[in-house]
Amino acid sequence: MADSKKIAVIGAGLMGSGIGQVALMGGHSVVMVDIKQEFVDKGVAGIREGIKKLEEKGKLGEGVSADDVMARCSESVDVAEAVKDCDFAIEAVVERMDIKKQVCKNVMDNGPDHIIFASNTSTMSITEIGKDSGAPDRVCGMHFFNPVPLMRLIEVIRGEDTSDDTFEKSMAVAETFPCLRGDRYIAPVLKDRPGFIVNRLNAPVQIYLSWCFDKTAEQDLDWAQLDADAGGKMPMPPCMLTDFVGIDTMHHVMDYYKETLSPDFEQGQVINDLYKKGDLGQKTGKGFYDWSKGRDAIKAKIKNAEAAGIFDLETTFAILLNEGCRILEEGIASGYKIIDDANMAGMNAPGPFGWGKKNSEKAVSILNEVAEQTGKDYLRPIDLLKSGGFKKMRK
Ligand SMILES: NC(=O)c1ccc[n+]([C@@H]2O[C@H](COP(=O)([O-])OP(=O)(O)OC[C@H]3O[C@@H](n4cnc5c(N)ncnc54)[C@H](O)[C@@H]3O)[C@@H](O)[C@H]2O)c1
Repeated sequence: MADSKKIAVIGAGLMGSGIGQVALMGGHSVVMVDIKQEFVDKGVAGIREGIKKLEEKGKLGEGVSADDVMARCSESVDVAEAVKDCDFAIEAVVERMDIKKQVCKNVMDNGPDHIIFASNTSTMSITEIGKDSGAPDRVCGMHFFNPVPLMRLIEVIRGEDTSDDTFEKSMAVAETFPCLRGDRYIAPVLKDRPGFIVNRLNAPVQIYLSWCFDKTAEQDLDWAQLDADAGGKMPMPPCMLTDFVGIDTMHHVMDYYKETLSPDFEQGQVINDLYKKGDLGQKTGKGFYDWSKGRDAIKAKIKNAEAAGIFDLETTFAILLNEGCRILEEGIASGYKIIDDANMAGMNAPGPFGWGKKNSEKAVSILNEVAEQTGKDYLRPIDLLKSGGFKKMRK
């Protein structure tokens, strides 16, 4: 394959349009595909807007206009036709296994013999998506973060049947997608496991947060008091962050990990109640907080609140460290530097290993204590953490 490829982006929604934009910025030809022309139009309009902004800021390069870039972008409502001369297809269709499998097979049936299919799924098995496609060796995961042009991380995931050649080429293609905020970071994900690296690393913190919410309700304290426990050290403390992400999102994510990792991801009472009431956070105007007076009013409330003494920031580091060790133990990442770098690139937050290298014994006692308190064995320290063996697994 030559450096510049023809890439089909299938699904021109929120993620697809971002992926299309960075692929064009990387110098590739792109065909944007969706099921209806109006969806394609909307996606392409979003891309054009993004590219125009770069033109205005003089960021497209010497003598390059937005029109020059957009001339490499075509449209289609027919996957089979669109992929005929493509080297690469990236799907960002709805999160449904049957649809993803169908799109994957359609690409493999109609694309050239060398076409690679990459799925942007957040929660589905890459192996399963590719299994019945006729060419599972040419299927991998390529997990972007929203907004794609601004978030530095792309995780490239190896399914059970992904060939070395597919994995290497996919890593190389991902490297060509520019990022507008710092250098792109491509994390190789060596095993097709739930949450891949970054979402998996952060997943069990939700078990702890959910318990903190219930404790706060039991003691009849104000949510701002729980958030005051973070002592202003988090960009957004627990309740505010959960409102921002969406109570429904947290609920669904916990359901997913409950099924795929452990029953200990069962949601607590508070999350279940808010979810049932439809108080989903910022998006509905109400969750833990009333968002009608804006973020600053909430921040002021937290600043003036007396701490509850329930949430402990160091406990979240210990939980992240333990999950990072699980990621190493399961062979999902080859070393902890990748996990730390990926978390910084995908979450704008440092990973746990910098802290963990110096505090592993402390982490073990914190984790034993929190497992006792919460009754959640998933939070117990695993052997790789207890032995300190993870410290030798940097790369
Ligand atoms: N939104 C996020 O933050 C995020 C982050 C990482 C990964 N993802 C994953 O990206 C994928 C897309 O998410 P989104 O938020 O962009 O969704 P979206 O709903 O904005 O876009 C999905 C698009 O796919 C189209 N589509 C559906 N079936 C199709 C088919 N058979 N062929 C072609 N197009 C089809 C829809 O018409 C829609 O335009 C999902 O798998 C999601 O899990 C989302």
